[in-house]
Amino acid sequence: MLTAADTPFSFILFGASGHLATIKIYPALYVLALKKRLPKDYVIVGYARTEMDDMAFRKMVEESVRKDMSEVNEKVLTDLLKHMHYVHGQYMEAKDFTALAKALEQWEKGGSWVRLAYLSIPPTVFTAVFQNLCKAGIHNKKNLFRCIVEKPVGHDLGSFEEIRHQLTDCFDEKEIFLLDHYLGKEAVRNIYYLRASNPVLERVFKNTLIHHVEVTASEPAGIAGRAGYYEHTGAFRDMFQSHLLEMCSLLTMRQIEEGESFRESRQNALEQFYLPPAGDLDEIVLQGQYEGYEKEEGIAKGSKTNTYATLKLLSRSSRWQGVPFYLRSGKKLAKKETRISIQFQPPSVIWKGSTPNRLDIILQGEAGMRLHLQTKIGGSEPEFRPLIMEDPLVCLGDCLPEHGLLLLEAIDGRQQWFLRFNEVQASWRLLDPIQAHLDRPDTHLYRYKPGSKGPMEAEGWIARDATRWLS
Ligand code: BG6
Repeated sequence: MLTAADTPFSFILFGASGHLATIKIYPALYVLALKKRLPKDYVIVGYARTEMDDMAFRKMVEESVRKDMSEVNEKVLTDLLKHMHYVHGQYMEAKDFTALAKALEQWEKGGSWVRLAYLSIPPTVFTAVFQNLCKAGIHNKKNLFRCIVEKPVGHDLGSFEEIRHQLTDCFDEKEIFLLDHYLGKEAVRNIYYLRASNPVLERVFKNTLIHHVEVTASEPAGIAGRAGYYEHTGAFRDMFQSHLLEMCSLLTMRQIEEGESFRESRQNALEQFYLPPAGDLDEIVLQGQYEGYEKEEGIAKGSKTNTYATLKLLSRSSRWQGVPFYLRSGKKLAKKETRISIQFQPPSVIWKGSTPNRLDIILQGEAGMRLHLQTKIGGSEPEFRPLIMEDPLVCLGDCLPEHGLLLLEAIDGRQQWFLRFNEVQASWRLLDPIQAHLDRPDTHLYRYKPGSKGPMEAEGWIARDATRWLS
């Protein structure tokens, strides 16, 4: 079991008053404290532009923990809050970082600690923060340093390359941890391990047997007050370039030992994906926006931001060649579900009632594995009904929230479940032409009703391939 117990650390959270911090990071820190996964000596430093003192910061953290947890251990929470401090500062101001450096020295009592700078801030201020961390000596040889950057890294290939350049100018690659929180989810990691531990799956995961693959991440929630972020990002940038493509690479990557070569294999799998040849990009991508999006606070009337998208991909890997991958994600849809469905080729004789075999790996929502077989219903004529074998997929071992697990791994210097630069580059490279197409003012944006399965047109879109959505 991975613990941080022997390593004192300072965790500096840039964007401490932001949405991600309050909904994910503070609750995750509380769970680590509850499960006794934090060392005796550590400090959590919130850094943001909002004016606040330690007390107000602690109150904010407390509220976010109470909101997330059905039950709170008061002693654990009180103790956690004592480790928390707030530094009010600007991201562009070198002198604010000098003050931060001094405060850190004091809290760390002159010892040698692991320092983690966690950037949960807009990419527009990344450069200033990287440079100021270096200038103020927060990043120095005395302490082990980790710079954790949340996805999306950039908003296209060009801006990603710029950020990469700025980051590597300041830090060594071993100090850079590019975070996609899906890679901290047990269920998502399990995509790889299910294959690796069940050779029977590997035998049937090949193009001669598979008809197509569906990768879906649907959410009933809307933009949850994140207009500023979402309006410039949209569903396609927000979900496809990171979460959905990473799921595809875990499903198709070569099995490999742990460590750096694991990341390389994940990257290679990503690099195998390509956009199917098409007369028109509308044949391989479709975007939508839920009705009422324009009325959300902070969204301009006439906004063209997509809140739904679906994309078709192919892979060059010999095992998956020719198998279409349909990726789909959207906000304000009927249910929360993250699912990979693998539809196998139909049987050579289609009897009455028979349907093709299918394997569903449901990672979020009603998480479980479902193998769809079929059985004869009985009688003198061959007629079939579905036979579904299923089991819930639940974490029963050392289960931590994704940000908690990733934070422990970052403290320990383990990079396997963080993205490599080349991985992010491969995904931007693949999706840039599609994003450019979606950004064009004349590309159609289909409306859909909140609580539905997305735009009706997505049905006709997939039907062109003589296929229909599996759910
Ligand atoms: C984030 C996106 O990366 O993932 C959000 O920015 C999205 O828009 C979220 O809602 C989904 O994550 P999860 O863990 O709820 O599936």
